[in-house]
Amino acid sequence: MSVQTKRRNVLRALLSVAVLAVLAPFSGLARYFYRESASQSQRQKIANVNDLKPGSYVFFSYPRTGDPKIDGDPFRQYILLMTRDGKIRAYSRVCVHLWCLPTYASDRGLLVCPCHGSIYREEDGVAIAGPASLQPYPYNALPMVKLEIDGNGDIYAVGIDGRIGLGREWRNRSPDENVVRV
Ligand code: FES
Repeated sequence: MSVQTKRRNVLRALLSVAVLAVLAPFSGLARYFYRESASQSQRQKIANVNDLKPGSYVFFSYPRTGDPKIDGDPFRQYILLMTRDGKIRAYSRVCVHLWCLPTYASDRGLLVCPCHGSIYREEDGVAIAGPASLQPYPYNALPMVKLEIDGNGDIYAVGIDGRIGLGREWRNRSPDENVVRV
């Protein structure tokens, strides 16, 4: 096989991978990759409601292991926030577009991705602008952390709703379902 033919074959293979990556979210293939993160169900205290005020937030790692290397993995990074109207929410920090880490613009009530400008609502983590908002359902929302708040106001992470880096099935469901008083 000539060098030119080999090069052409390599280019063809790379092109096929690129095409698949672009088309995956729009095809049945994406369904195959999308599944709930069932393994993340550790009960872990994050904060107390008295630590939060409207527009404030804390970052946390979940499920925490105590090993800084593992806990520093972006796919374990979450934000707990209190919306401007006092609701408690926790989201994956991984943008469902290409996995950068959005920040919380509390003055606007939005999570904003620094890479390509995707913007998510603080209320439910649904993308309303930028490339993430153009992805088909359910690849257009940040996964949520399921929370429990006990009688002392302690907030616990107890699981994940959605698939980190991919999305969350949010239609016909209230984000309040992921925040349970116990
Ligand atoms: S990675 Fe967030 S908008 Fe592209």
